[in-house]
Amino acid sequence: MLLSENPVWRRFWHAIIPVDQLRAGPRPFRLLGEDIVVFLDEAGNPVALADRCRHRTTKLSKGWVADGRITCAYHGWQYDGTGRLRVIPQYDAGTPVPDERVQTFRCQARYGYVWVALDDPVSPLFDIPEDRDPGFRRIQQFYDTWATSPLRLIENSFDNAHFSFVHKGTFGNIARPKPGRYAIGETEQGFYAEAVTEALNPPAAHPVSGSTAPTVERLLRSSWYLPFARRFDMEYVSGIRHIIFTYATPIDDSHIQVAQFLYRNDTEAQCPAQLLVDWDARIFAEDKDVLEATDPDVLLDVRDRGELHMPSDRPSVIMRKRLHALLAQYPAHPPSSVRTAA
Ligand code: FES
Ligand code: CO
Repeated sequence: MLLSENPVWRRFWHAIIPVDQLRAGPRPFRLLGEDIVVFLDEAGNPVALADRCRHRTTKLSKGWVADGRITCAYHGWQYDGTGRLRVIPQYDAGTPVPDERVQTFRCQARYGYVWVALDDPVSPLFDIPEDRDPGFRRIQQFYDTWATSPLRLIENSFDNAHFSFVHKGTFGNIARPKPGRYAIGETEQGFYAEAVTEALNPPAAHPVSGSTAPTVERLLRSSWYLPFARRFDMEYVSGIRHIIFTYATPIDDSHIQVAQFLYRNDTEAQCPAQLLVDWDARIFAEDKDVLEATDPDVLLDVRDRGELHMPSDRPSVIMRKRLHALLAQYPAHPPSSVRTAA
């Protein structure tokens, strides 16, 4: 399934850009093939507009923001955070500006990111209790473009069998290819899965795991939030919690923007944030390398192409079942020519 086959993905909140990156000015983003511009309005809240000036279609993201209004780089027309045209500098003083606007999209700031839903959301953005828990710190890790499908990344997130192979250069033990099995149950927003896994613990990982043992056990409590988010909650024997959130934002059918941030229940003195970024960056690069080698056309019925499953692929099977149900609930409209003929 290519995402462009159904518009339902427009009805979810997607991570667009770290809020901090908007302080330098407006930023363009292509979300599900739709070009948007994101900037901070007068009150400092992020807003998302169609990235097209109403004069000569120039991308507004080429312009700049002044007093919370975005100024087109071509002739200086200005739009406010509601998309309304406010200033045409070529007009004589006192001449009313036409009541025109560019399209706006739902937009909110949460967890250090700007989130956008292009159409009426099917469900609210997932909750992260640790974000309001003073016992945890939030660390922004990655914001990177990958040439793959968001569903490939989500499948990979719950695939414990890839550790031994893809991550043999970091924590994976290729001598022990049989993964710990998940105990898995469906939830309203996706599923929840638990497993105990063993990981190699080289010296570079000692501050991450809070242990100097050569291998460590990790209790994984993972959640999938339909469609493209995962919570990967690792608890080490040391009591350290390492909770990764990964969001795979669809740019188009074969590219995603990966947003990843981390919660830890230790302090900067115990484990510097940069070390946590550097360690996970190696793992992130290993996943990117293999996922960019997969086919972004993710079939929901794998028998169609002879994709096979193994027992540890149960999360993948449930994921496909839930996606089937979603698509049945929100079927794509046939092309307008077909509707006319009917
Ligand atoms: Fe934007 Fe002319 S194209 S002001
Ligand atoms: Co991986």
